[in-house]
Amino acid sequence: SVNILQDRLYRPMKDLRISVTDRCNFRCSYCMPKEIFGDDYVFLPREELLTFEEMERLAKIFESFGVRKIRLTGGEPLMRRNIDELVKKLLTLDNIKDVGLTTNGVLLKQYGQKLKDAGLTRLNISLDALDENLFGNLNGRGIKSSFILENIQFAQNLGFEVKVNMVVQKNVNDQEIIPMAKYFKEKGITLRFIEFMDVGNDNAWSFEKVITKKQILTMLQQEFDLEPVDKDYFGEVAERYRYVGTESQVGFITSVSESFCSSCTRARLSSDGKFYTCLFATNGFDLRELIRNGATDDELSDAIKNVWERRTDRYSDERTEETAKNRTKINMSYIGG
Ligand code: GTP
Ligand code: 5AD
Ligand code: SF4
Ligand code: SF4
Repeated sequence: SVNILQDRLYRPMKDLRISVTDRCNFRCSYCMPKEIFGDDYVFLPREELLTFEEMERLAKIFESFGVRKIRLTGGEPLMRRNIDELVKKLLTLDNIKDVGLTTNGVLLKQYGQKLKDAGLTRLNISLDALDENLFGNLNGRGIKSSFILENIQFAQNLGFEVKVNMVVQKNVNDQEIIPMAKYFKEKGITLRFIEFMDVGNDNAWSFEKVITKKQILTMLQQEFDLEPVDKDYFGEVAERYRYVGTESQVGFITSVSESFCSSCTRARLSSDGKFYTCLFATNGFDLRELIRNGATDDELSDAIKNVWERRTDRYSDERTEETAKNRTKINMSYIGG
């Protein structure tokens, strides 16, 4: 039975984003800066992570409230051992027709086939530059863009529907906008430009470092003929355009310049079982504690329902330099975007 929930701003719950690990094999400066995530950084110990059984159990309850899409994130989700087993479990839920995964692509050769066999169909792969030196610096590990490009091709050959995410930072990788657009247009892969956001507490964000959708679109229009494309579904975060006369598209995720909180239908679960109702939340509701204290499904349902029905989050609508600086927020590597 479906029990449709609405929050205080009349938003239903439709998507669940599960972070499966807080670890990552990259050190992107805007997400896990090396100075903070160094050799001595203490990640969550294994016993604090939800097991796949616990995730499946919770996903089933979220499903009963209207969730139809699940996205697996991290940290880097492929750092979680046997992640394909989780995909399999989630796809056994009656109403979950769509499971996607957001990855940096490093481990795709090891996991691609297993994920495909488990029934995963969609991959969002992050890539912030084509330039080898720049990309090596951005990812903090010297990994080459050509290696990620190879893995993107590999994933496509396996039959995955692939999209690429590029976080754009002014004076850091804006010179890569046109080369990236050209490359992925030719490949027929949708590239999505993501406005740099003030997630977490350590990424030295300011409005000056943001390049907006409008600015990027203007740059693209010097080179290409573009026409807008309708949203695929209510609450889709990306605005897309088609390169006229082709099947290729390009997208924008405008969390800063044109926030989309009024249609935000996303629930988030951290790898240690906290339930968050916003990417910029300060506190989450501890579902793991309930589970491990023997809560019944009804008790878990009630807890989730209560949290959602009280939800008022609209952080990106309200963002100012002040809130960006002074609010304590969860880290992106912990909640997964
Ligand atoms: P699909 O449309 O299913 O492909 O998923 P998606 O685009 O929501 O997933 P992905 O993980 O690729 O998200 C891309 C980026 O959009 C995230 O990393 C965030 O930067 C941004 N984003 C996604 N959801 C939200 C949100 O609720 N709020 C804000 N502010 N940004 C979000
Ligand atoms: N602003 C915008 N996007 C970000 N991501 C990580 N940190 C930020 C940020 N500060 C993106 C990653 C990836 C997705 C999971 O979130 O690049 O595409
Ligand atoms: Fe970079 Fe994603 Fe890893 Fe963060 S989680 S360091 S954005 S690859
Ligand atoms: Fe949703 Fe919060 Fe992002 Fe707004 S800022 S779209 S409420 S996650």
